[in-house]
Amino acid sequence: MNTKQIEQLRLSKVLVTGAAGFIGSNLCEALLDIGSTVVGLDNFATGHKKNLSLIIDNPNFTFIEGDIRNLDDCNKACDGIDFVLHQAALGSVPRSINDPITSNDVNVGGFLNMLVASRDANVKRFVYAASSSTYGDSKSLPKIEENIGKPLSPYAITKYVNELYAENFKKSYDLDTIGLRYFNVFGRKQDPDGAYAAVIPKFVMQFMKHESPVINGDGSFSRDFTYIDNVIQMNLCAITSENTDALNNVYNTAFGERTTLNELTSLLKEYLSEFDNGIADIEVKFGPERRGDVPHSLASIDKAKNLLGYSPKFDMRSGLKEAVKWYWNNLK
Ligand SMILES: NC(=O)c1ccc[n+]([C@@H]2O[C@H](COP(=O)([O-])OP(=O)(O)OC[C@H]3O[C@@H](n4cnc5c(N)ncnc54)[C@H](O)[C@@H]3O)[C@@H](O)[C@H]2O)c1
Repeated sequence: MNTKQIEQLRLSKVLVTGAAGFIGSNLCEALLDIGSTVVGLDNFATGHKKNLSLIIDNPNFTFIEGDIRNLDDCNKACDGIDFVLHQAALGSVPRSINDPITSNDVNVGGFLNMLVASRDANVKRFVYAASSSTYGDSKSLPKIEENIGKPLSPYAITKYVNELYAENFKKSYDLDTIGLRYFNVFGRKQDPDGAYAAVIPKFVMQFMKHESPVINGDGSFSRDFTYIDNVIQMNLCAITSENTDALNNVYNTAFGERTTLNELTSLLKEYLSEFDNGIADIEVKFGPERRGDVPHSLASIDKAKNLLGYSPKFDMRSGLKEAVKWYWNNLK
């Protein structure tokens, strides 16, 4: 970002939904560091008060406990807002397979409420968390924004519907939107607990407890694991971009490299062994593949580089080192 864009952020009031979650709380901290006025909205469905501990007393931060399924809560949160970073949703493919109705209510109904509230509050730009799951059964690699397949889970459908609604709100109401298709984000504050925990925090905690992580499948599946600071940069690029051609588009949000689960567990063992050398001897176990999982995921990030000026600073390994250090220092 150039100095003009940073100055613009300083003068802006930004709403972050899902503010008590992993990505939302990191976005709030980054914006407050820059000097923005920030409003956070969350109902603590999967987020935690502890994620707000560094910012809850910041005079530039207002927290609203509310539910995006309730339009009044969305209207209240959007009052006087310049930019929306919409993160609130129920993540996880398995969760959506177990309970598609709730995932749809929150991820589609809640999303539509947020679009309506943003439109009515005349926000300048609505930036939202989309998902790499939208590539569905498309086998082509790397994934290019314009080339998607059929969704493999209810979660993927909800995230694709978000993109359709966002596109339509430009046509119907002239609301500017940008969708960020996140690829397996990881880093500080990602929740390691619960049935739907993401693989990196879950495995880190298991290694730290000297338990054997279980890989679903033979470990050959690969992902474009993306460190949180790259995702923060992408969101800031999306709200400050002065390129009008960049608006009303979706962008892969990734580093642009893929790592297999076998490689991931080796790296985790290597990095965690620096803190506890007993971890080097822990064996990984293998279980059945999960329904709805895509075998491989790798993003092309050319579109975001060209149109938004995105330039990710952390590759998977440097991000993983940071994440491991954070978990060791905060959750051991
Ligand atoms: N983490 C990833 O790898 C990843 C990948 C693709 C997309 N995404 C998307 O990014 C966004 C943030 O994900 P995250 O990893 O930070 O997950 P998270 O679960 O940590 O954060 C989501 C937040 O939304 C809140 N929320 C859920 N339902 C709500 C409701 N009805 N009203 C208000 N708040 C509600 C939760 O309490 C939580 O704090 C989500 O939209 C998710 O689908 C994440």
